[in-house]
Amino acid sequence: MSNKKKSNEMWGGRFSERAADLLTEINSSIDIDKRLAFEDILGSKAHVEMLAKMRIITKKTETKILNGLKKIEKELLDGDFSFDNLLEDIHMNIESRLGEIIGADAGRIHTARSRNDQVVTDLRLWIRKAIEDIELELSKLQIILLRKAEKNIEIISPGYTHLQVAQPIRFSHHLLAYLEMFGRDVERFKQTKERLNECPLGAAALAGTSFPIDRFYTAKTLGFRAPMRNSMDAVSDRDFVLEFISDAAIAMVHFSRLAEEFILWGSIEFDFISLPDSLVTGSSIMPQKKNPDAAELIRAKTGRVNGALLSLLTVMKGLPLAYAKDMQEDKESVFDVFDTLILVIKISQQLIENMKVKKANMYKAASNGFSIATDLADWFVRDLGMPFREAHALTGKIVEVASKKNIKLNELTLSDLNKVEPKISEEVFKILSPENSIESRNSFGGTASREIRRQIKFWKRRLNA
Ligand code: ARG
Repeated sequence: MSNKKKSNEMWGGRFSERAADLLTEINSSIDIDKRLAFEDILGSKAHVEMLAKMRIITKKTETKILNGLKKIEKELLDGDFSFDNLLEDIHMNIESRLGEIIGADAGRIHTARSRNDQVVTDLRLWIRKAIEDIELELSKLQIILLRKAEKNIEIISPGYTHLQVAQPIRFSHHLLAYLEMFGRDVERFKQTKERLNECPLGAAALAGTSFPIDRFYTAKTLGFRAPMRNSMDAVSDRDFVLEFISDAAIAMVHFSRLAEEFILWGSIEFDFISLPDSLVTGSSIMPQKKNPDAAELIRAKTGRVNGALLSLLTVMKGLPLAYAKDMQEDKESVFDVFDTLILVIKISQQLIENMKVKKANMYKAASNGFSIATDLADWFVRDLGMPFREAHALTGKIVEVASKKNIKLNELTLSDLNKVEPKISEEVFKILSPENSIESRNSFGGTASREIRRQIKFWKRRLNA
């Protein structure tokens, strides 16, 4: 039999019955929050050092506790730590093990502290590190996008609105649009990290403590900007978790859109890219198939992350101050969101890096669908001095003519054009090509090569690439 204290011995002084199995089942969070183990030890170390510095515990006790924590850390690293459901959560699992190692002095670790400030300190530390991991992977992804954009600057592809061919663009322009989105995702995460970087430790259960603690010391030791000003706020809000998940949900929306484009582009109907064999699957019945499962799952996993956001928004809504056990439900979402997002970023890196772009097919599609009709209308405005509305109507008529003949705009003859508008001259043919259309769109942020190169230059500097 283990001589571990059961959870009701940790808090059960006034209880005459042991916890029902069902209570343990609903109450225990160790299977999930064991991922906070190292942050929990970090927080405990800072707390214990502070207690000794303020002479709330002796130097000797401090050393004893710190050695015990070091041993636990090693057990955790070696996978030798045994987690116990009856000890509810990571905090009590560690404290209980500390008791086994150093005896009754272990109980001094919880002086001037509650699990309420402990858990939220751990979680802030964990998310802070998680955000750093996410930032790193997102920046790798951005560099991959940047290189792909630079390499494919000559490739012309159709730009869409309503998924109808709209105007020709450079394929790089399309890729760089995602680079911008992921750039904002990085910014959002950075700002969240900045905002959450305040220390709740020392808020104790909710009201602070009567011990002469130094919250500035623990905050500094743990790398937080400052201690949180209000002890009730410190233990009771999870807005930083909501922000983290919101940031992830927005990023996932971006990834799902990119994934959807991969799926479309990789289809026979589009045939713009081929996805790497390593990231597609075959069909068990149709030998010809290459299914974009990885991209489909990226698209689908957006649902889990959105779900996590809604779940925690719902948990937090209407909770009276300060701490309530409801908040224990936050961690499962946090970990799942993090794992999902990291996986999605890494797979997207590979999809982008290894996709093969089919230049001729993209070009063909970019020339279809009267994609240069706007250029024709603009020519009427510029060269014939027409108001744009009139030019638009006239171009519409010409598109109709070409459509009936089943040819492209630049395959019409001058006499075809003159039947609709006698003032049109030979000059017009100079502008009726996808290349010309693209290069003419040289307004800031447009798709002309000069503007694309400006964007590439910007991102090279920003990403230090
Ligand atoms: N496991 C708990 C959580 O995740 C820790 C805080 C418990 N506090 C308490 N007073 N029961 O929120």
